[in-house]
Amino acid sequence: MRQNTITLSLLCAAAAVAADQILFPNTTGPYRVGSKILELVDYSRDDIYSLFPQPRDLMTTLYYPIDDNQTTCDIDTLYTPQLGIYLDLLASAPLGTFREFALPSCVNAPLAHPDLPLVLFSHGYKGSRLLYAGFLQEFASHGFNVLAVDHPHDALVVEYPDGRAVYNTLDENVVGAVEQDLDVRTQDMIFALNSMNNSTITSQIPGLSPRKLQTSRVGILGHSFGGSTTFQATVNDTRFVAGTLFDGPFWGFANQTGTDAPIMLLAALQPSSEDWVMEWTTTWPRLRGFKRWFDVAETLHLSFDDIPLLAEILGADLSETVGNVTGTRMIEIESAFATSFFNQFLKNVTDGLLDGKQAEKWPEVSFVMN
Ligand SMILES: *[C@@H]1O[C@H](CO)[C@@H](O)[C@H](O)[C@H]1NC(C)=O
Ligand SMILES: *[C@@H]1O[C@H](CO)[C@@H](O)[C@H](O)[C@H]1NC(C)=O
Ligand SMILES: *[C@@H]1O[C@H](CO)[C@@H](O)[C@H](O)[C@H]1NC(C)=O
Ligand SMILES: *[C@@H]1O[C@H](CO)[C@@H](O)[C@H](O)[C@H]1NC(C)=O
Ligand SMILES: *[C@@H]1O[C@H](CO)[C@@H](O)[C@H](O)[C@H]1NC(C)=O
Ligand SMILES: *[C@@H]1O[C@H](CO)[C@@H](O)[C@H](O)[C@H]1NC(C)=O
Ligand SMILES: *[C@@H]1O[C@H](CO)[C@@H](O)[C@H](O)[C@H]1NC(C)=O
Ligand SMILES: *[C@@H]1O[C@H](CO)[C@@H](O)[C@H](O)[C@H]1NC(C)=O
Repeated sequence: MRQNTITLSLLCAAAAVAADQILFPNTTGPYRVGSKILELVDYSRDDIYSLFPQPRDLMTTLYYPIDDNQTTCDIDTLYTPQLGIYLDLLASAPLGTFREFALPSCVNAPLAHPDLPLVLFSHGYKGSRLLYAGFLQEFASHGFNVLAVDHPHDALVVEYPDGRAVYNTLDENVVGAVEQDLDVRTQDMIFALNSMNNSTITSQIPGLSPRKLQTSRVGILGHSFGGSTTFQATVNDTRFVAGTLFDGPFWGFANQTGTDAPIMLLAALQPSSEDWVMEWTTTWPRLRGFKRWFDVAETLHLSFDDIPLLAEILGADLSETVGNVTGTRMIEIESAFATSFFNQFLKNVTDGLLDGKQAEKWPEVSFVMN
């Protein structure tokens, strides 16, 4: 059981919202943020989950700092049509409600700072890169170019510019499925990173060419099974120099080999499964680099995606599913800790947060072990 299936029954307050765009909160970091959707096709790799021959085809979104003086800013719908319908049904909201959600980030604005580090993001099982957009834009505003990757057939649904939609088809009960899927996900992350060093691809990123992104030392971050993906990727490809897991188990062969990369775990205080706590504890001595494990009080597994923020925006009480920390606060916590961690390992800037400095500002977060 990969435990990231969203099983909400609710969000009934949607009708109260005006029939306009429903904007996510503005980012709070020092940089304004732009976004660009990129389809990355790996012609060298068959999609083993596809029923017909088909190269592995990834939808991704790059979030990135833009110039302060950027004058035009196009704001676009966040959720794709099928994902929007899925969320409407889940929330018992009027059809079309979720198609009104939009990020304040400027779509296709010129990327301004290719010198800032690149961090890749992997979603949870039956999740979607789009269900973390609130966190991802905030994290980017703190000075990172952030590429979020969808894993087709594992994601809830992946929708392509030509109208195709690929739904989750994996059978998680098959023996070996977890290890196989983790390897496919890891290959996805490696291919996405290679693509950020391929000028045919990066020429599509507004404002970038002929400059290049920094791809020799990058960060990786993921929620749930995306956390497991993060962990394995640091072992399979040493360009991933540091990794952060949001409530994700240490699954796959890497829990035997361990990793040299610095690792940070932000865990739900009430994890989905007590097994995970035992697994984290067992694997912990095999993490050979810098390591920090923090628990976040009053959180549950789904606290670490945008669902708490959606509930907050719609005025719905989802505390039984997403815990008691508000969406805005969750994003503040995730972003502060991820920023501190990746600043330390990708920018060589240490602010002491991970060693307890200013702990009074983060009462929800408790240090477990290092
Ligand atoms: C977000 O920022 C824009 C532009 O600065 C501003 O017009 C808007 O009111 C802000 N929205 C919120 C919710 O603060
Ligand atoms: C915007 O700022 C950048 C530096 O951040 C500068 O290179 C560029 O010329 C400015 N553009 C305008 C229109 O002022
Ligand atoms: C990761 O490393 C394992 C163990 O060496 C190997 O079996 C697997 O094929 C590698 N996967 C990727 C995606 O490189
Ligand atoms: C770069 O991407 C293009 C377009 O997908 C592809 O044809 C080419 O083989 C890639 N180059 C490398 C070195 O992988
Ligand atoms: C990026 O691609 C170039 C060839 O275009 C290659 O020389 C270089 O090693 C690659 N860098 C990384 C970090 O993959
Ligand atoms: C290691 O990963 C496997 C899945 O690949 C999992 O079944 C096992 O419980 C994990 N062990 C630990 C200690 O995390
Ligand atoms: C949220 O608060 C309620 C009421 O105090 C409590 O019963 C519940 O356990 C809390 N949830 C979490 C995840 O801490
Ligand atoms: C990071 O900072 C330390 C201490 O100031 C220095 O020794 C080290 O060379 C720096 N590393 C990089 C990659 O800049």
